[in-house]
Amino acid sequence: MRLAVIGHPIAHSLSPVLHEQWLRASGLFGRYEALDVTPDELADLFQQMRDGVWDGFNVTIPYKETVIPYLDELDQAAEAAGAVNTVYKRDGKLIGTNTDGAGLVAALDRWTDWTGRVLVIGAGGAARGIISALPTRDVTVTNRTMERAERLADAFGIEAQALEDVDIARYDVIIQTTSVGMDGVDSPRSLKGLRQNTVVCDIIYRPLVTPFLKEAAKADAKIVNGTAMFVGQGALAFEYWTGVRPDQLVGMKLIERLLEE
Ligand code: ATR
Repeated sequence: MRLAVIGHPIAHSLSPVLHEQWLRASGLFGRYEALDVTPDELADLFQQMRDGVWDGFNVTIPYKETVIPYLDELDQAAEAAGAVNTVYKRDGKLIGTNTDGAGLVAALDRWTDWTGRVLVIGAGGAARGIISALPTRDVTVTNRTMERAERLADAFGIEAQALEDVDIARYDVIIQTTSVGMDGVDSPRSLKGLRQNTVVCDIIYRPLVTPFLKEAAKADAKIVNGTAMFVGQGALAFEYWTGVRPDQLVGMKLIERLLEE
């Protein structure tokens, strides 16, 4: 099994340790590399995959859309997200999928049965992938730029609200998808009114506990950090490549330990 994540930059990727641990635990021989590639190297790389050199790729920033022309098919998840984060081979064809949304949803299944209301903060590519994978349409999307929230709401038949109009107390699950909080200082908005036991998830994993999650923890919410989506998307990708469902809890513990160091 020869696997890799392709992106630029890629030096700090945690995917190799995660997947190599899963390969070992599954008794599979193989390697998972981090490939820092330039756009003009992509054609070659996908030809190598056709030739059997590679069994699978993860795709990360900035190539999640750029790789699409090199593939034979996109599945429904990649179409809905408008982006590819995983490439696998079936019957000689290169297929692009997107496991980000479904990976997060699968991870959050442990904390919620999705019968309540969901709030998604942010309206970028990450939000689109997550909304498309949610098992409920009882969803509100909110964003700094209202127009983008409205576009997503129209596309998925959900509700859009301005950030300042959102009543936090209404929601059972809150998913933070913006880049706000990576600085360890800012939050996209306050969590005033948050109910105890609400599931509050941030997809940022550096830092592991964002200011948004800190505020949620103070209000006794159930907080889910960004390792849930990272490990969740990786687990689904691993299953596409190997047919083996890896242990997500073991994966989350490993990644949390590395991020805490
Ligand atoms: P991604 O594909 O990672 O989601 P993106 O498409 O650039 O990236 O989207 C980034 C998200 O973070 C958007 O929802 C963006 O809000 P806008 O649509 O208003 O730009 C949000 N975001 C980024 N910086 C922000 C900030 N300082 N305050 C509030 N929201 C911010």
